[in-house]
Amino acid sequence: MKQNLLKRLPSPKGMERTEILNLLLSEEYGFLPDPPESMTVDTESEENTFCAGKAVLKKLKMNCKTRHGIFSFPFSLMYPSNTEKPVPCFILINFRDLVPDRYFPAEEILDNGFAALSFCYEDISADNGDFTSGLAGLVYPDGERTVRQCGKIGLWAWAAIRIMDYAVTLPFLDTGCISIVGHSRLGKTALLTGALDPRFFCSFSNDSGCSGAALSREKKGETIRDICNTYPYWFCKAYEKYAGHEEDLPFDQHFLLAASAPRRVYVASASEDLWACPENEYLSCIAAGTYYQEMGQKGFLHPDRLPVPGDCFTDGDIGYHMRAGTHYLSREDWKYFMEFVREKR
Ligand code: GCU
Repeated sequence: MKQNLLKRLPSPKGMERTEILNLLLSEEYGFLPDPPESMTVDTESEENTFCAGKAVLKKLKMNCKTRHGIFSFPFSLMYPSNTEKPVPCFILINFRDLVPDRYFPAEEILDNGFAALSFCYEDISADNGDFTSGLAGLVYPDGERTVRQCGKIGLWAWAAIRIMDYAVTLPFLDTGCISIVGHSRLGKTALLTGALDPRFFCSFSNDSGCSGAALSREKKGETIRDICNTYPYWFCKAYEKYAGHEEDLPFDQHFLLAASAPRRVYVASASEDLWACPENEYLSCIAAGTYYQEMGQKGFLHPDRLPVPGDCFTDGDIGYHMRAGTHYLSREDWKYFMEFVREKR
């Protein structure tokens, strides 16, 4: 293990959550638009016999009244029928609006007693450098943003927080047990969402890698230079100065995990996802675990070695597993996520 890296990382010790967030927002993700003044939700369709009659699936539309105008976007809600008690729930930020989807095993999730809300990230803002349409077009007149206004990750997180605003109003959900889930770029988004909104029970990041869970210092695979060359629009403009200058970062990605303390956060890696750098995703959990412990929490409980495929460490507040295989959000990952919620609930 890179013990020297762990020793020389900047530490969030003694910092309040808001200070940590302020640093991450100022230098990496940018500040999000204000919450809307009001919101309404329209039902577009309702299927009461979803999954052989076990569940309800609704297609909905959220209308957010912001000071710039109204922003509307579609999302889905599914929940098991005939449940006696409020059920735990996932909010999935997905690549597609499908239910089910290859990253969204709807029936298994329902069978395990969970509800889920999901939306397609590009229904919020296109995954490109265009800031003139969608939510970006509304909040950034002329499509221009200042150095510390958020990029696309911040806009996607803003929408996920709106879904949470709606979720907490639903009587059949256990509103104390709503988690956020995302894969890859949307795993980065899930971590930011859970860090920003303390109503989330847990943030589940899957293969989130560079500028997600993985430490940027001594990172293999994708670097800040790579990500800023290809996807500069995911971040605020202030982030670019760290391309090739990781050592100058006044934080590292464990600050993002630490910003969820004292709540739970979960990092899932895939053994062959070398672009994401599973080793640095794991080391980030260790570094964030120290911060949790300084706050009197359990932190990250793990053996004194690097993980191998099939490892799953869930005794602490930070959960971790390494799945064998490549970059993907699989049913196996979901199985671990559901198990973690069940253990911690
Ligand atoms: C690219 C990108 C990653 C990102 C991934 C994804 O590989 O470099 O940072 O996580 O896309 O979202 O699938």
